[in-house]
Amino acid sequence: MGIKKLKLAVFISGRGSNMLSILEACKNTDYPAEIVLVLSNRPDAQGLVSAKNAGIQTEVVDHTQFESREDFEDEIQDRLEKYDIDLIVLAGFMRVLTEGFVTQWPDRMINIHPSLLPDYKGLNTHARAIEDGQKEAGCTVHFVTPDLDSGPTILQKRVPIFEDDTAERLAARVLEQEHIAYPQAIELLANSKNS
Ligand code: GRF
Repeated sequence: MGIKKLKLAVFISGRGSNMLSILEACKNTDYPAEIVLVLSNRPDAQGLVSAKNAGIQTEVVDHTQFESREDFEDEIQDRLEKYDIDLIVLAGFMRVLTEGFVTQWPDRMINIHPSLLPDYKGLNTHARAIEDGQKEAGCTVHFVTPDLDSGPTILQKRVPIFEDDTAERLAARVLEQEHIAYPQAIELLANSKNS
């Protein structure tokens, strides 16, 4: 009998390179997860095109079409009902989710953040780390809780910050590690649920 694969809904807002790194890992038949849905809040997200090209189901819930965050999230929740989702994977999803939504997915929603949390929560992490003269940066995969970028860490990857670094170069160095970290973190979670 094959392993039971964790069914993922990946939420994106843009490029979707982390989504693609997970998709790549899922091509391995032994990998314990599969992407069943890619959902975007932006109709023009580049990652939607990549997902469609890979034959993955997509949903768009455009936040600009809703009066309130709650209405937007109710629509997301409705769309998710059609799929039998085990885990929501936020991958560059640029909307803050309310406590009402987050608590509907306890221990079943994860995020990747481009810093060594708890340092540099929020935006512009790379520029701030360089500005502060940090010697090290990285990324963190963590559970999502109602407080932004604050849930328990699943894993981190570290990279050096060089003397003459720019935010762009550092972002690219961290992104390379994100693409390793996210598939690994999902595998860890899937294996812990299977054992
Ligand atoms: C990544 O750096 C991720 O850590 C952050 O947003 C970026 C998304 O990139 N939350 P991509 O859309 O996965 O290429």
